[in-house]
Amino acid sequence: MDLKHLFLQHVGQTSPFPTMVEVDRVEGIYVYDTSGKKYIDAIAGICVSALGHNHPKVVSAIQKQAATYLHPMVYGEFILSPQVRYAKMLVDQLPEHLNCVFYTNSGSEAVEGAMKLAKRYTGRGEIIACKGAYHGSTNGAMSLMSEPKYKKGYYPLMPGINYINFNDHVDLSKITTQTAAVITEPIQAAPGIRVGEPEYLQALRKRCDETGTLLIFDEIQIGFGRSGTFFAFEQMGMAPDVLLSAKALGGTLPLGALIADRKLLSVLSKNPILGFISTFGGHPLSCAAGMATLEVLLEEGWIGQVSEKAERIKASLKHPLIKEIRGTGLLLAIDFGSEPIALKVLDACFEHGIITDFFLFNEQAIRIAPPLNITAAEIDDLTKRLLQVFDSIEV
Ligand SMILES: Cc1ncc(COP(=O)(O)O)c(C=O)c1O
Repeated sequence: MDLKHLFLQHVGQTSPFPTMVEVDRVEGIYVYDTSGKKYIDAIAGICVSALGHNHPKVVSAIQKQAATYLHPMVYGEFILSPQVRYAKMLVDQLPEHLNCVFYTNSGSEAVEGAMKLAKRYTGRGEIIACKGAYHGSTNGAMSLMSEPKYKKGYYPLMPGINYINFNDHVDLSKITTQTAAVITEPIQAAPGIRVGEPEYLQALRKRCDETGTLLIFDEIQIGFGRSGTFFAFEQMGMAPDVLLSAKALGGTLPLGALIADRKLLSVLSKNPILGFISTFGGHPLSCAAGMATLEVLLEEGWIGQVSEKAERIKASLKHPLIKEIRGTGLLLAIDFGSEPIALKVLDACFEHGIITDFFLFNEQAIRIAPPLNITAAEIDDLTKRLLQVFDSIEV
């Protein structure tokens, strides 16, 4: 039996219609399938591969670490140099109060940890999330989702969750002294990109301060350079109490993190001890890969070029099919205002050798979020192919 059949029979599926690209090899922004077809990866494995695929410095860091040690002990007990050095490197880029990194395996696990932290720290039970957000697929993280579409088959979910409208100043009054935490992305991805207004996020910060509520920013998708700054909150004139990162954080390997003040994070380690534990959190390989990625991003100045690249993409993509291009930095939504058109575009993209996807809560738009080190020539190749795709669509 060929791999396609074995994949369908023996690998757990997430939907009845996987794209089924059979990967042979990868290089830079390109993915090659087993028939030799070359695809531009226009979504970086959903905001993971910040430096594209198989970046030599990342591969070499992984190989070096693999030859040194892999898993001497569960997270949090032994001093593992990649964890420590990466934590120092991360906090050196952040405001003073974001000075301690609690590692997890994934974004959802970081979200779970943040909710537990907020409950322990404040002694309160209510968590507020913003409508339209996606924070992960575990029971707790999924409870934060306001849309019933994906969660309705899994009730009962976590109690104590309430929702506010994103960018809505009036709704901020729903945050009270009963609220343990507000969790939000500064730029919501799942609804097809909604950018948080700086004045709104500043007012949210103020309301959380007034009520003693922790403000948690989920920058799992938009963070790590994709917005044009290391984290998007830097553009908003405020900072969260807890910053969540994952996806690109592990330099293509699984890694998540809660980043907060050391005193705040320490509540998870006492009364009772072991309040939040994880066997593989902060795996040395993932930390080594993440550190190599961040080194390249900083040394080669890729984050500073993000906005210019986004402008280059937007400027080239003029087409009657496009209703709007939204986004910040290299997380863009091309909105066609129509699900059938977006579906045709998505299929045609794969035919024309472009890997893209919808947004979880918006199937009228496709996402463009290439590796941050995409070159100008590669952008021009991508936008040329996209325009060919749009021209090929019959409406
Ligand atoms: C904003 C946001 N939060 C949380 C998650 C969950 O991360 P993970 O899939 O690593 O559990 C995602 C994943 O897409 C995300 O985009």
